[in-house]
Parts: sequence; structure tokens; C-alpha cells
Amino acid sequence: MPDRAGQETVKVWDPLIRMGHWILVVAFATAYLTEGEPEWLHVRAGYAIAAVVALRILWGLVGPRRARFSDFVTGPARVLRYLRALVAGRAARHLGHSPAGGAMTLALLAALAVTAVSGMVTLATEDGRGPLAGIVAQAGDEHGREHEGEADWEEIHETAANLTVVLIVLHLGGVALASHAHGENLSRAMVTGRKRA
Ligand code: HEM
Ligand code: HEM
Repeated sequence: MPDRAGQETVKVWDPLIRMGHWILVVAFATAYLTEGEPEWLHVRAGYAIAAVVALRILWGLVGPRRARFSDFVTGPARVLRYLRALVAGRAARHLGHSPAGGAMTLALLAALAVTAVSGMVTLATEDGRGPLAGIVAQAGDEHGREHEGEADWEEIHETAANLTVVLIVLHLGGVALASHAHGENLSRAMVTGRKRA
């Protein structure tokens, strides 16, 4: 199908990837900016992220070609070679994720999973609520007093959220750099699903 400039384009990102991506953007901004309060909103945004990540991992195994991990997961040597070429302005164009894009996809999914799960552990250990209540023990004694050496899950959760933000900043930088290098708007491709043939 030709685009507005008359260029032939091909379908790359399926609807599940695209919808999942933009749900992640909205839900992450919501969860991060609410910082836990109001809790109903924070926790629901977090569950939305957990659901998208779980579905995306499944899709990486059984989804269409460009969605599959086997299409874009490569070793660190290829990632570094791609990044060096990108900075030097001679990186090869990839229709699916580039080696660096693939590595960032894995890093983001892992960071989002750790953040969401540590949030659920925080809720279970502090208040005995949420999907992990009954699986992980509530912290403190019957009076709610905390004991020395007990893991501070809220602290772990906050650190995971901040590390995810660092990855997102690198992600946006990578998208901008690769879009410039290949003369195409990769963000628009994440909306339309199509790239230049
Ligand atoms: C995955 C996206 C999420 C992000 C980016 C995120 C981010 C944050 C941040 C920045 C804080 C403030 C930490 C602090 O100031 O100490 C926080 C607190 C908290 N989060 Fe999350 N969170 C996410 C998901 C979740 C989920 C899925 C749950 C539970 C089901 C959850 C439960 C909590 C709880 C209980 C607190 C402590 C609230 C308080 O005591 O004030 N979060 N979160
Ligand atoms: C407005 C800000 C954002 C823009 C413009 C954007 C753009 C993009 C683009 C263009 C890609 C495809 C990269 C490629 O061609 O290899 C992508 C992939 C991805 N982005 Fe973003 N992104 C944004 C924010 C975020 C945020 C906040 C998250 C996480 C919370 C995120 C998570 C991901 C993930 C997991 C992928 C891999 C997609 C997949 O294969 O399922 N992005 N993003």
C-alpha cells in the first residue's frame, strides 16, 4: 500500500503490539506520576502494565513474525556493532526491531515486570492486600511494627520504577536517533504499523 508520499509500505507491527505499546505509555505515565496515591488509580495502571507485559511475552513466542523474540533477539556483540554504526551514521536499516531495538524491548519488558511485581509485593507485605497477599507474608508483627532486616519493598519498588524511567529516556533517544539515521518516523510506524518497503 503506498503512503501519502506515494512510497510503497509494508505492514510490520500488528495491532496487539501497537495497542499494547500505547497502553504502556499511558499506564506508565499514570502509575509513575501517581506514586502510589490515589491507590485505586495507581494499582489499576500497574495491573494494566502487568497484563500488557504478560501478553507481549506470550506474543513473542507465538505471535506473527515481527512480534517474535526470534526475529529480534541477538547477542550483545551485534547490539554493540549496530550502536557503533548508528553513531557513525552507517547503520543498516531493519524492517523489524534493530539489534539495539530488540535489546531495549527485552530490557523494558523486564524492568516493567520487576516494577509491577514489586508493587504487588509492596501491597501484600504492607497491607496484606492484592494478588500476592497470602503468597508473600505481611511484614512486621501483629502491631504492624517492622523488624530489622526486613526487605523494604516500597524502596525496591521505587528503585525499579526509576530504573525503568532511565530505560525509557534511553528508548526515546534511540528511537529519535534511528528515525533520523534511516530517514523515517519510527513513532508513526508504531501508530500505523507500516514502514517503507
Ligand atoms: C508498573 C508500573 C508502576 C510504577 C511505575 C510504579 C511506581 C511507583 C512509585 C514511583 C511509587 C512511590 C514510591 C515511594 O515514594 O516510596 C509507588 C508506590 C507504590 N506502588 Fe507502585 N508502581 C507501579 C505498579 C504498581 C503495582 C502493580 C502495585 C500493586 C498492585 C503498586 C503498588 C504500590 C504501593 C502499595 C505503593 C506505596 C504507596 C504508599 O504507601 O504511599 N505499584 N509506585
Ligand atoms: C511517547 C513516547 C514513546 C514513543 C514515541 C515510543 C516509540 C517507540 C517506537 C518507535 C518503538 C519501535 C522501535 C523500533 O522500531 O524498533 C517502540 C517500541 C517499544 N516501546 Fe516505546 N515509545 C514511547 C514510550 C514508551 C514507554 C513509556 C514505554 C514503556 C513503558 C515503551 C515501551 C516500548 C516497548 C516495550 C517497545 C517494544 C515494542 C514491542 O515489540 O512490543 N515505549 N517505542
